Amino acid sequence: MATLDAHAPMGTLGGSNLPPGLLHAEMGLARSPFMMFRPRPIAYLVSIALACSCGFDPDVGADSMELSAESLGLLQEQDAPPEVEAQLRSALNQQFGSILSPRFPDAFAASGPGMGSELEVAARLYRGQCMHCHGVEGGGDGRSAYFLTPPPTDFRPGTFKWTELERNHPPRVEDIEQSLKRGVPFTSMPSFSRLTDPQLTGLAQVVRWLAARGQVERWLVAEWVQAGGEELPASGVEATVLAVAEGWNESAQHLVLPVQEPAPEDMGLERIERGRLLYFGELARCVACHGEQLEGDGPAVFQTIIDSDGASRQERVPDEWGIPSRPRDLRQAGFRGGSSPLDLYRRIRVGISGSIMPGASESLDEEAIWDLVYFVLSEAGLHQTGENR
Ligand code: HEC
Ligand code: HEC
Repeated sequence: MATLDAHAPMGTLGGSNLPPGLLHAEMGLARSPFMMFRPRPIAYLVSIALACSCGFDPDVGADSMELSAESLGLLQEQDAPPEVEAQLRSALNQQFGSILSPRFPDAFAASGPGMGSELEVAARLYRGQCMHCHGVEGGGDGRSAYFLTPPPTDFRPGTFKWTELERNHPPRVEDIEQSLKRGVPFTSMPSFSRLTDPQLTGLAQVVRWLAARGQVERWLVAEWVQAGGEELPASGVEATVLAVAEGWNESAQHLVLPVQEPAPEDMGLERIERGRLLYFGELARCVACHGEQLEGDGPAVFQTIIDSDGASRQERVPDEWGIPSRPRDLRQAGFRGGSSPLDLYRRIRVGISGSIMPGASESLDEEAIWDLVYFVLSEAGLHQTGENR
């Protein structure tokens, strides 16, 4: 049995993205041994080569989609009879179709532009351009994924890091389009800015479709476990789809907007120095994770695991996907969720969904958040003041 020591990491995984009361099931999901197994960093070059090798066969992909390894693990743990797996698979297929003929349940109509046959066309593009990394079910487990660090995002939990929203709200079409245009710098996720706007919108809808489908799957499995293995009634499936859709339909209401952006004359050395004090200070505690030198190896990233034989070892705290946390090296010029002051403002104010990085808004006011934004930008060499130019 592994136990944590007193130096529990700051921040929480927060993003339950599961119905209230089902957290124990979520813990099961998060700790599944499958998720803890990740390849070590291999060559960045491999990822670049993969990113450049576009054009996989779009016809690959089965008409029936698999349950995730985490779901199967949970069912197995509960000694579920094979009918349960078949029932879950057919419920999901009925609601969402498959990667060859995808559809949104009606309950999602309000969450984005209506998608009929266009979703099918976009899914074909997904199979050609994205599936070899992000997988048939969006599990981040495509054929190329094994070589990549960080691994391609597993969309199924419904958690996305790079959005303009409050923590743990499902991404809008615009959020995903933005990630597609920008790519995710310093990872193998390429920019798809050369695609047309309708293609980008279509792909964003496919990602949302996979994520919503994955979320419904997790909720259904969690509910089945909580019900002590009772058969899932059809009305239960409908209710779960409605509950998940509600989150997707209202996410646009959770946009993070600054009260006021600083004026140009107010972005100088004074602000940067205030940001530096905050970075090292007790209120923001950025240093606890991002480190004294900003290189991303502060003490709060590590936890002590005590094995059953009493031996202890240091491990990185995992994120929601079970991936060891690696806080950004803040000296590097380029951020994954965008490098504009407003992008960083959002990251610092609400934290990063699915990661251990907490939002600072509870301990810091608006001005302090901007102080940190300009401190971080200036350390990364992305902000020049009149004084230090
Ligand atoms: C070479 C592998 C690769 C390919 C091809 C690829 N991705 Fe990615 N994708 C990644 C990686 C790696 C990440 C970054 C994960 C992270 O930030 O931790 C990512 C991140 C993303 C994100 C952001 C997730 C978030 O947390 O906000 C989206 C959305 C996304 N990919 C969609 C797509 C779509 C759609 C395509 C096809 C048009 C695609 N990707 C093609 C590897 C890939
Ligand atoms: C509990 C640990 C933790 C704390 C505290 C923390 N961070 Fe982070 N931070 C992370 C991790 C982990 C990542 C990388 C997330 C990822 O890419 O998956 C990160 C990423 C970032 C990024 C990069 C965003 C991007 O788009 O690439 C910035 C900027 C950042 N942190 C700034 C800060 C600032 C400023 C503070 C203090 C207010 C802070 N962090 C506090 C863990 C932490």
